[in-house]
Amino acid sequence: MLVLCTRKIPDTAARILEENGFEVHVLAEGKAPTHEEIVRELSARPYTALVSLLTDSIDDAVMDAAPALKVIANYATGYNNIDLAAARKRNITVLNTPGVSALAVAEHTVALMFALTTRLVEGDAFVRSGNYTGWDPLAFMGTDLSRKTVGFVGVGNIGSLAAKMLCRGFDARIIYYDLKENRELEEQCGAERKKTLEELLAESDIVTLHVPLLPSTHHLLGAAQFEKMKRSALVINTSRGPVIDENALVAALREKRIAGAGLDVFEFEPKLAPGLAELPTVVLTPHIASARETTRTEMARLVAEGIVKVFSGEKPDNVVGWEE
Ligand code: GLV
Repeated sequence: MLVLCTRKIPDTAARILEENGFEVHVLAEGKAPTHEEIVRELSARPYTALVSLLTDSIDDAVMDAAPALKVIANYATGYNNIDLAAARKRNITVLNTPGVSALAVAEHTVALMFALTTRLVEGDAFVRSGNYTGWDPLAFMGTDLSRKTVGFVGVGNIGSLAAKMLCRGFDARIIYYDLKENRELEEQCGAERKKTLEELLAESDIVTLHVPLLPSTHHLLGAAQFEKMKRSALVINTSRGPVIDENALVAALREKRIAGAGLDVFEFEPKLAPGLAELPTVVLTPHIASARETTRTEMARLVAEGIVKVFSGEKPDNVVGWEE
């Protein structure tokens, strides 16, 4: 049984797969393979499983190239890069890596908040550039993160964990907008569910996004939504870039309709919307929220064990639901 892994991921995956009789081929190291390279490799050998990355677009053409494919295991929590309908048509099981990255992504979310409120990155650049010539009582004024009202859009594994860190550690007031009620978060943090996104936007000092990318969440925040936010508000995105209309975000920041943004993901990733990188009020990281040895190893274990389970007739817990 042949598994194609589109990119090198931690060795744990290959070890588990090989121990279970699979042969693993890695297509690329470092740089993402092109769509054409993936199609070409899949047509060259009878692959039965594919480990894809969030940078790979897994569509009809890819699946047509691999008629023996039974499983696609996406090495990510998000799976918007996979055409689920195309997989369903072919009876291909789709897996992802939910839960194991929640801690890392929640911490990164809080780190982006702190980076903005403490002006950490600006201060670092200032010192490195040799401009620090003496203490100034009025320089680099930040704001407190403690006791702020933080609005969570989505309180699944990641959102609810970040919310707990903020309510327990920093006495933050938590409000949220989600299709589902999160009773545990309400009980543990006194979190308040808002009926509309607009209500959440109007009350939040910080708005943080924790939703999957779906047609219904594409450009969830755009010009109209920035208009509804406080002028002092900060926006954090560790979910998927296209949840924000990035050009509208640049305009809102330039016109000081909102105060800042901390982004780990970008609408046109890896490209940035024109003007974004020039703004002093943003902190930008290269989609690294889950980039930890522990997390990425657990993700590798989940994809490999999931593939093994599917071929031994068991249903893994990390099967992506069709209903999405
Ligand atoms: C990373 O973005 C992931 O979805 O795991």
